[in-house]
Formats: sequence, C-alpha cells, structure tokens
Amino acid sequence: MYYPDELVEEVRAKNDIVDVISGYVRLQKKGSSYFGLCPFHNEKSPSFSVSRQKQMYYCFGCGAGGNVFTFLMEYENYSFLEALRFLADRAGVELPEQDYSQEARQRADIKAILLEINKEAAKYFYVQLKQPQGKHALTYLKDRELGDEALKSFGLGYSNKYSDDLYRYLKSKGYKDEHISQAGLITIDEKRGVCDKFWNRVMFPIMDVNSRVIGFGGRVMGDGKPKYLNSPETLVFDKSRNLYGLNRARTARKPYFLLCEGYMDVIALHQAGFTNAVASLGTSLTPGHAALIKRYVSEVYLTYDSDDAGTRAALRAVPILRDVGVTARIIRMEPYKDPDEFIKNLGAEAFEERIRKAQGGFMFSLKALEKDYDMASPEGKTEFLKEAAGRLVEFEEEIERNNYIEATAAAYRVSYEDLRKLVAGTAVKKGLAAPVKRPRPTQSQEREKEDGIRKSQKILLTWMAADEHIFRQICKIVGPEDFDEGLYRTVAELLYRQYEEGEPNPAAIMNHFTDEEEHREVAGLFHTRIRELSTAREQEKALRETVKRVKLHSIEKAMGRNTTSAEELQKLVAEKARLQNPAELHISVN
Ligand code: CTP
Ligand code: MN
Repeated sequence: MYYPDELVEEVRAKNDIVDVISGYVRLQKKGSSYFGLCPFHNEKSPSFSVSRQKQMYYCFGCGAGGNVFTFLMEYENYSFLEALRFLADRAGVELPEQDYSQEARQRADIKAILLEINKEAAKYFYVQLKQPQGKHALTYLKDRELGDEALKSFGLGYSNKYSDDLYRYLKSKGYKDEHISQAGLITIDEKRGVCDKFWNRVMFPIMDVNSRVIGFGGRVMGDGKPKYLNSPETLVFDKSRNLYGLNRARTARKPYFLLCEGYMDVIALHQAGFTNAVASLGTSLTPGHAALIKRYVSEVYLTYDSDDAGTRAALRAVPILRDVGVTARIIRMEPYKDPDEFIKNLGAEAFEERIRKAQGGFMFSLKALEKDYDMASPEGKTEFLKEAAGRLVEFEEEIERNNYIEATAAAYRVSYEDLRKLVAGTAVKKGLAAPVKRPRPTQSQEREKEDGIRKSQKILLTWMAADEHIFRQICKIVGPEDFDEGLYRTVAELLYRQYEEGEPNPAAIMNHFTDEEEHREVAGLFHTRIRELSTAREQEKALRETVKRVKLHSIEKAMGRNTTSAEELQKLVAEKARLQNPAELHISVN
C-alpha cells in the first residue's frame, strides 16, 4: 500500500457507494437496499444490490461484489490506485503528489486514451465494411456464412487498401501520433513515414470482459501471408490475460466454456447458439487465462483443431486448467479441421452430440498415444498397454485409479483384472510402493482437507461479520491468530479490531486489499446468506462444528511447529481436550 489507511478510508467514506454506482446503473430502492440490473452480467430482472448501510454492492446472480473501489476496478478496469485517484478527485480529497507519482498518473491517462483510440478505430473499420470499398470484404464474410447479427455483435470491420486512411481519420479526431502508435495501429518508419498497421484486411476487434476494444486481429482475404495480423501488446492489451469472446460468453449461463483456437471458431459457435465459446487466439493457454476462466466456470470443453498441433495444445492445456481447479474435456472435430468447419458441414446438433461424447483429459491422452504404436499387432498393443499402465500408476487415489483402469480396459478390450495386475506390477518396477496400500494421505486428499479448512474459516468469518451476538460468543474461543495466514487472517484481525472499537465496517476492511481477485473473495465473505435454510438448532450445530474444526486445525498446526515449547505444548493438549466437551462450545444464535 502506498497510502496511509486513514487516507484511503477518508476517500472511501466521502464517496457514497449508492451515489457513485447510480452514475452507471439505474438503481431502485427496495427495503434497505438498492437494486438494479447487474452491469457485470446479462440479466433481465435485477439481482444487483447496493447497500448504503454497508457501503457494499453484491450481485446475487454472478457473485460480483465489493466496495466502491472494487466497483470502479471492475467496471472501468482501473487498478486500485486508479480507482483511488478517481474517487479522491470526485470527493475533492487531495492525495499527496509524491505518492501517486506523475508517472503513474500519466499511465492511467494514457490507458484511457488508448481505449478511446481503439474504440474509434473499431467504429471506423465497421463503417468501412458497409461502404462500397468494403464490398469484397463483406462478400468474403458472407461467403464464410456469417450473418448480419454476428457481424454486428462481434463488431467486424474492414481496413481499406490505402496505407494511411485510419491514421488520417484518427488525426482528424485530434489524437496524437504518439498515442496512435502506442495503441499499435500505426508504424512510423523513417523512410516511408507513417503507415497504418492494418490494410486490406477483415478486422476482428478484440474486447475485454467489459466489451472495451483492446486490440485487433486482421485476416487477409484469401491465401496471403500472414493469415492473421494482430495488434502488438500495449498498455491495454495483455494477450495472456484476455480471451476472445469472453465479454459475451460470461453471460451465457452455462456451467462450462467451449475453449477454441480462433476468431472464426468463436463467431461460428456463437452464431450456432453456443454463446459460451471463447478463444485464446492461437497463443497457447497460460495460467493467466486459466485463472480468468476459473472466475466464471469450473469446467472447460476444449475444441482445438484436430491436427497434431491442436492435439498437442489440448494436451498441454489440461494440466494448466487442472492447476486452477478447472476440469477439462476434449471435443473431437474429426473429420473437420476446426469448430467453424465442423458446424458449417454438420450443423449445431451434431456439435451438441460431440459435446456429449467429449472425452476426459486422460482418455484423450491415451488416444493421442495410440499413434506411436502399431495397435493392430499384438506386440504393438502390449507395448501400448504397458505405457498406459505407467500413466495409470500416476493416479494416487485408489478409487480414481481403479476407475481409470476400468475405463481403459473397456476402451481397449482387455480384462480389468489383467490390466490391474499390469498396473500393480509397473508400480513395483518403478519402485513405488504397491499401489494398493497407502498409509500416507495422498496429495489430493491433503488438498481437499485444506480446502475444507479454508471453507470453514470463511464461513466463520461470514457469521461473525453478520451478527454481533454470534461474534461475542465465538471470539471467546477463536482468535484472529487461529485463521490461516494471508487473506483470512487479515480480515479476521480487522474485524476483531472493528468490533472492539464499535461496529463492523466491511467496506473499510476491503481497503486493505488492492487486487481484484481479493476484492471478490472478501466481498463474498460479507454477502453469503447463511440463515436461509436451517432452523436455529441446525445453525447452532453447524456453528459448533465449524468453530471446532477451525480451532482444532489451529491447535494442530501449532503442535507441529518445532518452535513450540514443552510448556506451550501442554497447554495446547489441554485446549484440544477441552474442545471435545460440548458445553465448551455452546453457542446460541438468538
Ligand atoms: N493466428 C494468428 N496468426 C496467424 C495464424 C493464426 O494470430 N498467422 C491465430 C488467430 O487468432 C487464429 C488462430 O490463431 O484465429 C487459429 O489459427 P488457424 O487455425 O490457422 O486459423 P482459423 O481460426 O481457422 O482461421 P480461418 O478459419 O480464418 O482460416
Ligand atoms: Mn478455421
């Protein structure tokens, strides 16, 4: 943090959240909250709520939420500092100059200018497509079976044959060479002077999640090279953190995305009704993409090209997605090259069928492996199965491994028992313990347990923030230090302090986090609805169990530390014993 907490809090407190958001969203008062249509996803009835009392917003539809800073970070794509400066200006709070450096201020201004320039350029290309000079481009797109609706919603356009008409247009709008160049739309050459980057190409504007144009792809009509020319990375265009089509896909209300490779694939899929399609645009999937995807869905169907490169790309994408908790399935496009061609030839229903038949990542990797073996000969097939067994060993959890052994046996027509023996034998050969008995918890069990603890800590914080009566009882048993270090610990420390000094103030707690992801998570803490479903008794039981789990976890962690002294250890043992006594954990909700 660059600014003192008090200053950040002053800026926040002087910008009433209802007033600020009213500038962007039409809000109506209902009870103690204001409601409107969520600006972060597409909806017909309002589930976006803003609370003047809490100074927070939350969408019950898509889970977006936070304080006034978060809103601007999400809506305007501001960084925390940009949001802070904007709101300081709005409320007339002076920020010390040396902190918000001249340079940072300029960067924020330039970003806004580049976005404006991109928007102007997109409009220009769009208009050209409908002019006489754009006729052959329009014909090209129509020949590729794109309808007016698709052209419009993806804002497709055309860049003229002249080498500097976009440049001249942007100059006439008052933009400086320096900025047009920074937007990646022109090249400045000593000999040839200023040149448009794109000419005589069909133009695909690339938009961020908030539908702001951040770059372009331009396709040559015909066989010229390069087939696609793309904007370079700029202040507003980070290729590894954006997905083509995400601005539309995120409102598709499907629990998964279709992830493909190209512009045309996304558009063809959307046109065929698969509005949950996105593309990483020819670049390989990065952890940044995966994290972005995880914000919206936890399952992805990969629809990469059916050639070798596409297969390799799919095999690489699976673990990257798994690392962030997104499961991947793979859709085969054969005998066609990509989703665009598939849909054109076989239609949407056949594509649905392929979605239903999609393979999990493992079976797909076996399929890819077949190519290296002569599957028609007994020797070849045996070698193949040995390699497959080597991969099956890698599943550490017995149930999971057995499920995959069963699926593999069925797919390759061998008996389950034979394959299981082969896998067991391979494990021994590889020097691994016999896979049947594993005393140590496996990695994924370990992870699951950790997730469970985090969830309990989260629920506990939610309860305590929502209800002072409950807080007063819990704080006698659980302290801030019982929460895991990091986000939850910080929130707990702040919350305990606020209660000590008076009232909880969730919006102020958010000031301590500067990252959009953290804002989402913290906002979620203060908006989960706990009480809806259960009776008081059930709630009390759940509370008791949650308190016990969190406290026990903390005690066991302390016991495991080698810095813990014998005396402390004794205390911990006593505490642990006390937790077993239900009377110690009595908590009433009323
Ligand atoms: N790509 C690129 N530059 C190239 C080739 C490809 O940036 N020279 C990117 C584009 O985003 C393209 C994606 O990689 O959409 C997939 O490439 P490819 O499969 O070759 O193109 P298609 O999307 O199938 O394009 P089309 O159907 O127009 O041939
Ligand atoms: Mn294609």
